[in-house]
Amino acid sequence: MSKTDEQQKAILNNIPDQAWLKDADSRYILVNEAFVAACRLPEQQILNRTPVDVWPQEWGREYIDTDRRVMEQGVRLRYEERRHAEDGTLRWYDTIKTPVRNEHGDVIGSTGISRDITDRKLAEQELLESRSQLRELSAYLQSVREEERTRISRELHDELGQSLTAIRIGLGVMETQLQQDGCSADSDCSRNLQQLKHIADSTVESVQRIAADLRPLILDELGLASALDWLLESFGERSRIAVELILPPTLPVFSRDISTAIFRILQESLTNVSRHSRATSVVVELREDERDVLLKITDNGCGIDANDSRENSLGLIGMRERAFMLGGTLKIQSRKGSGTSIDVRIPKSPAGDRA
Ligand SMILES: Nc1ncnc2c1ncn2[C@@H]1O[C@H](COP(=O)(O)OP(=O)(O)OP(=O)(O)O)[C@@H](O)[C@H]1O
Ligand SMILES: [Mg+2]
Repeated sequence: MSKTDEQQKAILNNIPDQAWLKDADSRYILVNEAFVAACRLPEQQILNRTPVDVWPQEWGREYIDTDRRVMEQGVRLRYEERRHAEDGTLRWYDTIKTPVRNEHGDVIGSTGISRDITDRKLAEQELLESRSQLRELSAYLQSVREEERTRISRELHDELGQSLTAIRIGLGVMETQLQQDGCSADSDCSRNLQQLKHIADSTVESVQRIAADLRPLILDELGLASALDWLLESFGERSRIAVELILPPTLPVFSRDISTAIFRILQESLTNVSRHSRATSVVVELREDERDVLLKITDNGCGIDANDSRENSLGLIGMRERAFMLGGTLKIQSRKGSGTSIDVRIPKSPAGDRA
């Protein structure tokens, strides 16, 4: 081996990835130590042989094919390949093949380098799997939470609400009876009764409000349009921000999942509008096209300041996730000083139902 060859070999052996040089017939001319180790053959049994002589037949044929492509096209190729190791495990490689030219520019062979990226691929796969598991868990928790809220809301409304109403009616009857029995309106007894009537009234109101905040029965009983109407109206009253709801003349009955997602996304958006936007008006539009339900929420506030995002802000992530879980998307358009617009698109039928 000449001094130059030795120097080239030293450089090649310094590379931790498999590296080689082949002639125009795909015969190995030079290979590095990493290649010899991966091949598990002595170097003498590799040099001057082709890939089918040193690798399993199937791989060898594939390597010769890619050598040809590189030499015919005269351009560098980079690709990822999967190979089963002898023990049956699947391994991934990032391979680069480049044509080698003589001084006239004719292609006289190829050179290549192949990096084992199995660990990176496994980590990527694991990350994807754990992300999808987290998404499933989050979807499951959302639905359990929604069920629980519905149940508590119903019980508050039906059980507690009914009992309080009965107490309220009973107090009214007692008041009439006291008057008939000649008890004066400013007697202690009458005053206590009045107080009890006030307490009962405000408790009925509180129960109704708490039940509606948990999950408005209107959403299940009268549908999405009425629920959005109710939500915007109560938001307008509480926040003193002007609200407008644009609805088409007719809307179909959407699935419970879609209605819940749209309702909760709007609820969260309105919370953001009142907490962060300093807006004076908000416009909400719900419509449908052939495929999707579309919700657009636009405020005329200060816009989202990208530098202002807090690490533990979960509202926007949760909204996006709700749309994603149903195969939809959520896009935010916002510029500092010129308001925020949120576009939600959710398919009317689950992804699998569509052709
Ligand atoms: N309509 C809006 N106008 C202006 N800024 C907004 C608006 N909506 C969101 N933001 C900005 O985006 C940030 C992220 O909102 P996000 O709802 O994710 O979190 P948050 O409201 O801060 O906290 P939470 O997790 O309680 O919802 C907010 O902190 C705020 O700075
Ligand atoms: Mg928020």
